[in-house]
Amino acid sequence: MRISVFGLGYVGAVSCGCLAALGHDVIGVDVIEDKVRRIAKGESPIIEEGIDAILAKAVADRKLRATTDVAAAVRETDIGLVCVGTPSTPSGGVDTRYLDRVCQQIGSAVRDQRRDFFTVLNRSTSLPTVHQSLMRILEETSGSKLGGHIGYVCHPEFLREGIAVHDFYHPPKIVFGASDGRSETLCRDLYPGIAAETFFVPPDVAAMVKYADNCFHALKVTFGNEIGLICKALGIDSHAVMDIFCKDRKLNISEKYLKPGNPFGGSCLPKDLRGLLDASRSTAVPLPMHAGMLESNRLQVERLVKRIVASNGRNPVGLVGLAFKEGTDDVRESPMVALVEQLLGKGVPVRIYDEHLAVANMVGSNRSFALEAIPHLAELLSTDLRAVVAGSKTLVVNHRLSAERWKAAAIGADHHVIDLVNVPELRGAARYDGLYW
Ligand SMILES: NC(=O)c1ccc[n+]([C@@H]2O[C@H](COP(=O)([O-])OP(=O)(O)OC[C@H]3O[C@@H](n4cnc5c(N)ncnc54)[C@H](O)[C@@H]3O)[C@@H](O)[C@H]2O)c1
Repeated sequence: MRISVFGLGYVGAVSCGCLAALGHDVIGVDVIEDKVRRIAKGESPIIEEGIDAILAKAVADRKLRATTDVAAAVRETDIGLVCVGTPSTPSGGVDTRYLDRVCQQIGSAVRDQRRDFFTVLNRSTSLPTVHQSLMRILEETSGSKLGGHIGYVCHPEFLREGIAVHDFYHPPKIVFGASDGRSETLCRDLYPGIAAETFFVPPDVAAMVKYADNCFHALKVTFGNEIGLICKALGIDSHAVMDIFCKDRKLNISEKYLKPGNPFGGSCLPKDLRGLLDASRSTAVPLPMHAGMLESNRLQVERLVKRIVASNGRNPVGLVGLAFKEGTDDVRESPMVALVEQLLGKGVPVRIYDEHLAVANMVGSNRSFALEAIPHLAELLSTDLRAVVAGSKTLVVNHRLSAERWKAAAIGADHHVIDLVNVPELRGAARYDGLYW
C-alpha cells in the first residue's frame, strides 16, 4: 500500500519504519524540517530500541521517503496515518490545533490533487467529539462526503515508548473505527502478518477504548501506589502483598468487576474500603483514590434516583432484586436498599420482587440493616414477578433471571425498563434504558 504518515514523533517515526518493513511504500511528513531530513536519511529523530536500523533499511530499500509537503504526500499515497500531537489545553481539554491543521491540509489536498479515494487513519489520541469535528473538517475541505472521495478511521495507537517497535509487531489489539466501508476494506491489508485480535467498531467506540485503556493504566499505578503507601505506613512489604494480588487471575487481574453496572455494595466491599480508609486516617496517609470510590458509589445511587423520579414521577416503581446481587439474600449495604429508601422518601411507591427474600426468614445484621432503612419492607416484597411488573410504570432490574422468567413477567410496551445489570433478554423491551449503555 502507499501510505503517508503525518507527524514524525514517537508514534509517527516508529510507524514509518515498521510499515515500510511490512512492505508498504511510505512517505513521512512533518512541519519540522530537521525531523524530515533525518527520516529521509534513514536516521531516527527519537530514541527507541531497534528503530535506527529499521529506518536505515527502509530508506536504503527505497520504501521510505520524507517531506514537509502535505499535498505531495496526499497525491502520492492512498492512506494517510495522522500521528500529530494532542497535548492538553490549560483547562485539560484536548488541544486539537495540530489535528485540525493537518486535516485541513489533507482535505484541501484531496480536493485539489486527487480523483480517487483517500482515507485518513487518525492514530492521535482524541475524544469522540474531536473525531466528529475532524470528520466535518475533512468533508468541508475536501468537498466530499465521507465514503465518497475521502474516508476517516479512528485508529488508536497502543504502543509503549521504549519498546514501541516490539509493540508495533505484537500489539495488544488492533482497533479500527471506520466512518465508511471503503476505508474499512483498506484497513484489512494494513498489517500483513501481524497477529492480533482486531476489532472493527464505530469511530466513537474506538476513540473511547483508548481513553478507557489509559485511564485504567493510570488507575492501576495509583492503586498499586496507594496500597504501597498504606503498607509502608503499617510496616508491611507492599511487594509481598501485590505479588500475591497479581497472581489472582480469577478475581483480580480479570474481567470481573469491570463491566459498567450497578454500584458496589454487600457486606464486604463498602465495609473493607472503610476499614482501609480508617487505617489511612490513623496513619495520616491520605488515600484520595480509595476515598473517591465511596463518594463515586454514593453519587451513582443518587443519580439513579434522580433519573427514575425525572421520568417516572410518583408512579409505582417495581424493583427486581433488593439483595446487592442475585443468588444471595444478603441485603447489607445493597445500593438497592438506599435506592428504595430514597424513592419512598420522595413519595414514590415501590414494589419489590426478590426470589430469595422473605422478611420472616431474615436474621441478624441482614434483617436489622434492611428494616432500619425500610421498616415496612414486608409489605413491599412480593413473590409474584408478574404482579410487580403489572403494577409498575418503571421497572428497575438489579438481578438477572432466566429467559423464561422474563418472558413470563409480561413486560409491556408502556413499561420503562431501567436495567442495572445488562440483561440481554430485556434489551428488546419497547422502552429500554441501560444504566450506562
Ligand atoms: N508517545 C506515545 O507513546 C503514544 C502512544 C500512543 C498514542 N500516542 C498518541 O499519538 C499522538 C502522537 O504522539 P507522539 O508522542 O508521537 O507526538 P510527538 O509530539 O512526538 O510528535 C508529533 C509530531 O507531529 C508533528 N506535526 C504537528 N503538526 C503537523 C502537521 N500539520 N503536519 C505534519 N506533522 C505535524 C510535530 O512536529 C511532531 O513532530 C498523540 O495523540 C499521542 O497521545 C502516543
